[in-house]
Amino acid sequence: MLRTDTGQTVKLDAYSETDFVFESVFLTIRLFDGSAEIESEIRLRRREGSGADAPLVLDGDELTLTFLKLDGDRLPDADYDAEPGGLTIRSLPAAEAFTLTIGTRIVPEENTKLMGLYRSNGIWCTQCEAEGFRRITYFYDRPDVLIPYKVRIEAPKVAAPILLSNGNPGETGDLDSGRHFAVWDDPFNKPSYLFAMVAGDLERVGDTFRTASGHDVTLAIFTDKGRSHQAGYAMDALKRSMAWDERRFGREYDLDVFNIVAISDFNMGAMENKGLNVFNHKYVLLDPDTATDQDYAGVETVIAHEYFHNWTGNRITCRDWFQLCLKEGLTVFRDQEFSSDERERTVQRIGSVRRLKSMQFPEDQGPLQHPVRPSEYREISNFYTATIYDKGAELVRMIATLLGPEDFRAGMDLYFERHDGDAATIEAFVKVFEDVAGIDLSSFALWYHQAGTPTLTVTEAYDEAEDRYTLTLAQSLKQGAAGTGTKPMLMPVKIGLVGPNGEDRPLNPSQGGEIREDVIQLSEAEETFVFDKVGGRPYLSVLRDFSAPVTLDHDQSESDRLALARLDPNPFNRWRILNDLIGERLAAAAGGTSEPAQNPLGDELVTAILETAGDDRLDPAFRAQVLNVPADTEIARLIGENVDPLRVYETATRARKTIATAGTQVFERLVAAAPADAAFSPDAASAGKRALANAALGFATLSDGHPDRAFARFEKASNMTDRQAALAILVFRFPEHETTHRALDAFYARYEDDALVLDKWFALQAAAPGEDTLDRVQKLSTHPRFTLKNPNRARSLIGSFAGMNPTAFHRRDGRGYAWFCERLIELDAINPQISARMATAFRAWRTLESERRAKAEDALRDLAKLPHLSRDLRDIVDRTLA
Ligand code: ARG
Ligand code: ZN
Repeated sequence: MLRTDTGQTVKLDAYSETDFVFESVFLTIRLFDGSAEIESEIRLRRREGSGADAPLVLDGDELTLTFLKLDGDRLPDADYDAEPGGLTIRSLPAAEAFTLTIGTRIVPEENTKLMGLYRSNGIWCTQCEAEGFRRITYFYDRPDVLIPYKVRIEAPKVAAPILLSNGNPGETGDLDSGRHFAVWDDPFNKPSYLFAMVAGDLERVGDTFRTASGHDVTLAIFTDKGRSHQAGYAMDALKRSMAWDERRFGREYDLDVFNIVAISDFNMGAMENKGLNVFNHKYVLLDPDTATDQDYAGVETVIAHEYFHNWTGNRITCRDWFQLCLKEGLTVFRDQEFSSDERERTVQRIGSVRRLKSMQFPEDQGPLQHPVRPSEYREISNFYTATIYDKGAELVRMIATLLGPEDFRAGMDLYFERHDGDAATIEAFVKVFEDVAGIDLSSFALWYHQAGTPTLTVTEAYDEAEDRYTLTLAQSLKQGAAGTGTKPMLMPVKIGLVGPNGEDRPLNPSQGGEIREDVIQLSEAEETFVFDKVGGRPYLSVLRDFSAPVTLDHDQSESDRLALARLDPNPFNRWRILNDLIGERLAAAAGGTSEPAQNPLGDELVTAILETAGDDRLDPAFRAQVLNVPADTEIARLIGENVDPLRVYETATRARKTIATAGTQVFERLVAAAPADAAFSPDAASAGKRALANAALGFATLSDGHPDRAFARFEKASNMTDRQAALAILVFRFPEHETTHRALDAFYARYEDDALVLDKWFALQAAAPGEDTLDRVQKLSTHPRFTLKNPNRARSLIGSFAGMNPTAFHRRDGRGYAWFCERLIELDAINPQISARMATAFRAWRTLESERRAKAEDALRDLAKLPHLSRDLRDIVDRTLA
């Protein structure tokens, strides 16, 4: 029977327990060239209280049943219905436990969706989150079914000398016809989405880690042949993560082995399968010649993130997928904290806030808006979003800020103690903090249910005669696409009242309530605080460290802001204030209709930027962030309506040129201070110096107006950070220059066989601003090395064109959309998760000026009309149009 999946909506309210209770499973996976045979032996019984004749209904997806046995005997055909999408078994025992053995056959080589069991580069591997296990065998493929797994893998010895699964290794041995087997035993109860299996001819890097309680763990990273020398930094990051989780959260690793495998075809970044993390090789393999500082930081973060999931995700998992932020938001918070401790806190915070504003805010303010804890979905894969991950992390951060470090740690300890082994909910998570701190967090919990970015409105008054300062904070939330509530929510607002010498004054309001340390616990729609005898009018430094994910509406004078940019003892706010000012000025200039001013930033702001950038007492990484003006998409979001992306780009370029011209001397000095052939070390301080020098090179090139200096640096570069930065300057500023072609050709010749570097080559060219980029991208899509089958490669060209290049994607003539949609349809037939993700590039279509808006809408409506879209892509297209 052919079933067209139109996508039923799954609702949180409809949650109910399974009719049967699984006790354990023994999987035998037989791998052959061209197919795999799976035998799943499940021990189970009917749940007490569920009907004595309720059938067992198991999930499946594109499966073929080969046999079905009950306690060793074949079941009569009349007792079950097997379809590719599910298995229903009737007449099962009423009370006693029994064993079902289910045989399925699949073809990993044809699995282009990269969900379930597939083959990448000859290696058999799996991805089961969220609903991939049902593509391997019929099962209760849901996160609240927690059981021990025993796995036996059988495979040809030559193609797959390495056989891995979750847990601890067991028996191994030889079989007939050049085959062998290995058994793995995972003693920890786990849901099916954490199952993993890898088999292949892999190279191994090994190490060991002794836990705080003295347990020795064998660590290994497996890579493609000839790549293991690139896994050293990942291994180092793993050991640092393990030590950090012991120090900071008291969490030790719990198995004898911890394995990581790097795979070249992978939908996401990585996956936290118990004891066997599977990674996109982009987040494992590095060396100075092929990877940038950003890549190093990315590897460190993702390695840490997946490792931290062992406690927040695996030991305590989610009851259902609506609770996804329970593990993802919390684990992102943990990896952010790790990076802040390992690197530099302010610079890390700036990075996280930039990401939040550029990825999550547009999502929260557009058609794809959803709460951090959604209440319904059509396709769960589409909910691995910036809202679940990044806003989810912000909510945990707010709890930490509201409670303070001791209570927060006590709450986390209680969470682990109370819920170890559970499939938990957000309610259970919030409850532990209420219990340790003895407070009511119900108005905080609204953050999980109400979508949208609240506005925090700040009003100040100063009475000179009384030396009295009055601060009013008001919060409001607009109803958005999700149609959730708009009630006031408890939020921490970190503030400082700064004196003229950069000193923080005491915060003892005479009215409005107590302020603990520097945190106002704002819970009402509006609250006023009065400070008497403040010692002269202070500068208000508000929302320090971005203590709540809100839009700030603060009518603060430019002179106060520029004073704070110099004086604020909170370094994050020094950056934030400059960055906000730049964003507002550019949005005002690019959002208008008259010819933008020659210097849209204004002289004083330019001076402040240059002063900060040139101040050698400050951290170079911080100064690089000051020079990194808001992205065009961020400026577009600030404009909010009738956006002309080309005008945004031109305005931003004009501003960059003004900075470049005014700062020639500063930039010359900064470029000279960091020679491109200096020795490379990936640490944060060295990376910061490179970031500053390369930012300076960009400005210096803008005032030069020719590519020679960037090309010279490209040729001299001793590492990929400097090489790619110089190449980006060439490609972005001089796309058609002969020098740029020379550089691109040299880069290609050098890295033709290195997939990860070649991705950079495609991505840079696709991101070059200007409408003409479409023609170059079209040509690149026929390049022999281009393929839609590899997600990294597809993202590098198509994703970077649609997602990173507003000028070309939103071409006025609509050709950008037309070409992109053709690729999207091709991609959708191969890998729906990737096509759906890329289609989110349309999410801001309603904010475009009318001509582009009409073209974008036509393109989306044409997509929506197609009968064969995947459920994933259809869900995104429908919601984007709604
Ligand atoms: N849990 C993985 C992580 O560490 C992401 C897996 C996402 N998988 C998916 N099919 N969407 O964040
Ligand atoms: Zn995660």
